[in-house]
Amino acid sequence: MTKEHTSYWKQTSNLPTFPKLTENIETDVCIIGGGITGITTAYLLSKEGLKVTVLEADKVLQGTTGNTTAKITLQHGLIYDELIGNIGEEQAKLYYEANKKGQQFMKDIAEKLSIDCSFTKENSYLYATSEKYAEKVEKEYEAYQKLGIESQLIDSIPFPIDTKAVLNMTDQYQFHPLIYLHAILLEMKKNNVTIFEQTPAQDIEEKDTPTVLTGNNYRVSCKYVVIASHFPFYDKKGFYFARMYAERSYCIALKASSPYPFGMYYNGEKPVRSMRSIKNNGQEWVIISGENHKTGQDEDTAVHYDALKTFSKEILKTDKIEYSWSAQDLTTLDKIPYVGELTKNTPSILVATGFRKWGMTNGTAASLLLRDIIMEKDNPYRSLFSPSRFHPDPAIKTFITTNLDVAKHFVSGKLDIGEQERALLPNEGAILHMDGKKVGCYKDSSGTIHKVDTTCTHLGCEVAWNSSEKTWDCPCHGSRFAYTGEVIEGPALNPLPKL
Ligand code: FES
Repeated sequence: MTKEHTSYWKQTSNLPTFPKLTENIETDVCIIGGGITGITTAYLLSKEGLKVTVLEADKVLQGTTGNTTAKITLQHGLIYDELIGNIGEEQAKLYYEANKKGQQFMKDIAEKLSIDCSFTKENSYLYATSEKYAEKVEKEYEAYQKLGIESQLIDSIPFPIDTKAVLNMTDQYQFHPLIYLHAILLEMKKNNVTIFEQTPAQDIEEKDTPTVLTGNNYRVSCKYVVIASHFPFYDKKGFYFARMYAERSYCIALKASSPYPFGMYYNGEKPVRSMRSIKNNGQEWVIISGENHKTGQDEDTAVHYDALKTFSKEILKTDKIEYSWSAQDLTTLDKIPYVGELTKNTPSILVATGFRKWGMTNGTAASLLLRDIIMEKDNPYRSLFSPSRFHPDPAIKTFITTNLDVAKHFVSGKLDIGEQERALLPNEGAILHMDGKKVGCYKDSSGTIHKVDTTCTHLGCEVAWNSSEKTWDCPCHGSRFAYTGEVIEGPALNPLPKL
């Protein structure tokens, strides 16, 4: 039976639980967010002898990190040719190198701690099925040559897919992310890192040193705050809400019906298709993902799972989905993550966000950089990832495009969505008009209707109904709310008011 909306990784790991914060505390570094970046940063800083506290709004490793495809590859879709064009060869090479260091760190830790997390070497393939994208893949190959990235341009992949160009990046890796991070959690315990779950950070008080204020009204006084909560919950005129957009994608896991050949695959065109395998307890599984779209801009999300199922049937000759889930990723203006001081004026508040779909290496590279900033060590990647950077032309162009898109939802969300009142079926949600006002309504299987205000509590965009996850999703910065209004994913801190 399909386990809907639960990732394969979560179902096949047994993570510890942690208590809520129940008092005011003092620490050296307060890390907000218990995903790969928060946990790896906490581990690194605890090894430096610092007192580290992690606050997680929900449960550790259940957000983006628990919903990844877990490829530890430096082949981040089509990126290096674009980076060379936008920021030059030298900087593009730094992006590659920083991620390579992240990748190497993960490999070293998995070996050092003997973590049984199916950490395997695989080639990574970027393929195109149209002439238009074949040209882009060939340009990407030229970029690899310039940057000295070992690769080959080949014709085909071992699947019945008519490829026009394939770029092979050799010697990449894949793993089971939650088994890997579980081992790191155990190491952190030895270094006395404290972790609090169900403890959302609500605000930061900035004096000589920062204090994090939590949703349950406790205070964490510290020397440094690291915001690793996916979308930064605290902005402080960093304008992150205008500098990133959120995208959703979908994943399915199936038992392989015949031996999976080898490799990790990504097509770099629309609709996105990504494939990898994993062996666990003697059983081989295949994970397929793709169907990316901007958050809150596609109401009938169930069609995306159907599309992946059809792809699987055509390519792998099986459509017996055992697990299905979705993921949310954030993209910055120039596709390079924001890692470092939140703003020029907040040296004690650091942030790491905007890893696109490549959070395993980007998140680990970010952790290494955050450790160096806090320990006042030199790091060659600091200015590349600085959130205060400015790369003139492409950034401005994308900024305008992104903002036009966001602005549209501030305004037209009020005018266009769900103009007609209609009778709801069980398990159906829609925006209805009641007394001249818009009301988000969901009828559950027992017939009870749950009504919420559809104005996002972050900055006031209109949320949209996500039919497959049964959530209200905000198209502007990716906040997501349960049908009862509670926050599932920020940057929003407050629930949608119930009506
Ligand atoms: Fe920013 Fe909704 S997430 S307005």
